[in-house]
Amino acid sequence: MERIKEAIERAKRERVSVPPPPQDAKADASRDGGGRAAEDPDSRPKDSSLRSVKYQQTKVVELDMEHLASHRIFAHLKNNPMTAYIDMLRTQVLQKMDEHGWRTLGVTSPTPGSGKSLIAINLAISIARHTQKTALLVDLDLRRPKVAEYLGLDCRVDSLVSALKGKVDISEAMVNPSIRHLVVLPTSRPVANPAEALASKRVANLISDLRERYESRIVIFDLAPLVNTDDALSVVPKMDAVLMVVGNGMSTKREIEESMRHLQSTSLLGVVLNKAETDITPAYY
Ligand SMILES: Nc1ncnc2c1ncn2[C@@H]1O[C@H](COP(=O)(O)OP(=O)(O)OP(=O)(O)O)[C@@H](O)[C@H]1O
Ligand SMILES: [Mg+2]
Repeated sequence: MERIKEAIERAKRERVSVPPPPQDAKADASRDGGGRAAEDPDSRPKDSSLRSVKYQQTKVVELDMEHLASHRIFAHLKNNPMTAYIDMLRTQVLQKMDEHGWRTLGVTSPTPGSGKSLIAINLAISIARHTQKTALLVDLDLRRPKVAEYLGLDCRVDSLVSALKGKVDISEAMVNPSIRHLVVLPTSRPVANPAEALASKRVANLISDLRERYESRIVIFDLAPLVNTDDALSVVPKMDAVLMVVGNGMSTKREIEESMRHLQSTSLLGVVLNKAETDITPAYY
């Protein structure tokens, strides 16, 4: 006891602060995901109206590496050749976002199955590995939510669905998937009227709150496709920019053109051609 007291006194004298906990997922969760985070100026709410939000420690969930691999989630792996591609995309995305002061990015596509969810997840992980930024990945495809499934997260109770219904606070629905600087806001199941829910004031507030809360954070929204439903259309104007994923051979020229028309008044950050067959390895950079 005496020794502890002495150590504290010595630390006070030498003005050495108590060392931070090991840089594990918990520490990162509190830095970014609605944890108490009082020491990190970047994580303080910028908008005074948000200060009443109840903060609590973000849940930490261990990920199963085999599950990730089987769902093509690879951005956390250092020596995977695909990681180099997603890291290149990340760098280009971050450059554009920094240039324009953008912090929220919707990921959409003309038609279903183009690889939006996969790109959104891998991109968010890749951003989280970036030293200066933290990433929040939000599953805003309320019709076919896949983020939780692909990451192997069990979120039956507290998810975005419960938060949108006002049953839990948004911070209670957030999960830290044991990847540093990454927080996920999963959607546990499809909602009954996705287009209406997405057009609601609650979702508009959510998007702007998530944007304003932390300055150094990039928020990635996994969205529905643009053709045939207005799900994505009702939310993209509320985001700073959009990344369009086109699955190789999966959308017709007409569908791509129609999607581009839908995005006329939105900042299109870029287009990713996914599922492309190529011999080019990252070594050819
Ligand atoms: N580059 C790729 N190479 C091989 N398979 C891929 C690639 N990208 C995505 N896939 C596979 O395609 C399927 C659809 O991917 P994903 O769910 O990410 O698409 P989506 O655009 O989000 O679909 P939805 O419109 O249903 O939300 C998944 O089985 C995924 O593993
Ligand atoms: Mg999807």
